[in-house]
Amino acid sequence: MVDKDSSSGSNKENPDQDSSETLIPNSKNTPDLDYIVQKFQDSNPYGQQHKFWETQPVGQFKDLGNSTLPEGPIEQPTPLSEVKQEPYNLPNLYEWTVCDMKSDEVCNEVYILLTNNYVEDDDNLFRFNYSKEFLRWGLTPPGYFQNWHIGVRVKSSKKLVAFITGIPVKIRVRNEVVQMAEVNFLCVHKKLRSKRLAPVMIKEVTRRIHLENIWQAAYTAGVFLPTPVTTCQYWHRTLNPKKLIDVGFSRLGERMTMSRTIKLYKLPNSTSTRGLRKMELRDVPQVTRLLRNYLNRFIVAPTFDEDEVEHWLLPQENVVDSYVVECEETREITDFFSFYTLPSTILNNQNHSTLKAAYSFYYVTNRVQLMQLMQDALIIAKRDDFDVFNALDVMENEPILKDLKFGPGDGQLYYYLYNYRLNNVLKPSELGLVLL
Ligand SMILES: CC(C)(COP(=O)(O)OP(=O)(O)OC[C@H]1O[C@@H](n2cnc3c(N)ncnc32)[C@H](O)[C@@H]1OP(=O)(O)O)[C@@H](O)C(=O)NCCC(=O)NCCS
Repeated sequence: MVDKDSSSGSNKENPDQDSSETLIPNSKNTPDLDYIVQKFQDSNPYGQQHKFWETQPVGQFKDLGNSTLPEGPIEQPTPLSEVKQEPYNLPNLYEWTVCDMKSDEVCNEVYILLTNNYVEDDDNLFRFNYSKEFLRWGLTPPGYFQNWHIGVRVKSSKKLVAFITGIPVKIRVRNEVVQMAEVNFLCVHKKLRSKRLAPVMIKEVTRRIHLENIWQAAYTAGVFLPTPVTTCQYWHRTLNPKKLIDVGFSRLGERMTMSRTIKLYKLPNSTSTRGLRKMELRDVPQVTRLLRNYLNRFIVAPTFDEDEVEHWLLPQENVVDSYVVECEETREITDFFSFYTLPSTILNNQNHSTLKAAYSFYYVTNRVQLMQLMQDALIIAKRDDFDVFNALDVMENEPILKDLKFGPGDGQLYYYLYNYRLNNVLKPSELGLVLL
């Protein structure tokens, strides 16, 4: 099975694995320090491969395993007056622009840039197709800064050719709640690649984040950079086998026919959890309490207040879906789950143009087993016409994925922190953070 990860590059199911049969555990599933060191040695034999990232306050490969370095910020904040007040210089033909995502016209420009130039899988079969509503939702949470939505235009034509964003988020690392930015949607037009524009964009968004007195950031990428705090993997649960096979996302397993495959992935028609219903506005306080409590289990996780829960989890058609479990006697909310909608354009296929994918987002298990909640999420996603349901091996996902007939992707999703050192590499199950 082939699929894309949420942030960069894309995944293809390990061809040695037949997802339609018993799944073999992936040896890279819980990367550790050895794996990271090995990756470093493989990818960086001369120690000089990250000209930009080596200059940044991020964990450096050379410091891997050095336990004398303190955990926490790598550099201390500087007085705001010492933060560069002017934007970084762009090559002469280009200019900075702030993208007002509330404007339909600008949102559409961003949408078109990303639709044509954002993340593709390694075989260029699929490209993420974040919808306009999704982009607006993802970029305008409570307290967002419009000038962290940064575009680059061609001066003469005003065409938007590059984009990078930040949004504010509070992330707890062990016992410390740190105000951070989540940096995402870095995209340079295909015709402008490999000209070192990305480092300028990263420096510019960092400068604007510093101007708000924020000194840390979290980001994910499909590329291996100095130095991941954890390495995760996407898993894919086929909902529409015929289409996934037709478009090259999956392949028919050995000794499998189409009808056996369809039967294998068939789901019950209705959900099994009593009291399961769509989340409503009135649920926000209870869901916030449950989620704050649940996310405490993880070493790195966001802390959401009610406004953020309302923004991130209240259902929005074609953007985000959330379901709560309400106890029928007490009316108390006991559990919940959510997933977001991120289609991909299917490139060069005559029969299909879009792959409709659901991505597991936040959940809380309390009275109901995660296995059952996730199975109900699959049933709902199937009912709502999704072709595939994707989940990372973060939080408590890993043990249930195989039983629910998820198959592993073949790429990695690396999580990074900017200007924050962790003493050890985390396991995906120690992470309670899902980025878009
Ligand atoms: C990612 C992208 C913007 C990089 O631009 P580029 O033109 O390929 O690269 P540039 O020459 O401008 O810059 C290269 C530098 O950016 C870094 N870089 C590349 N991709 C990066 C990423 N996703 N996150 C952070 N840094 C990245 C490189 O490591 C390199 O720095 P280094 O020398 O320290 O290693 C571009 O390839 C793109 O738009 N790709 C499609 C969308 C995408 O994958 N976005 C990233 C989502 S996480």
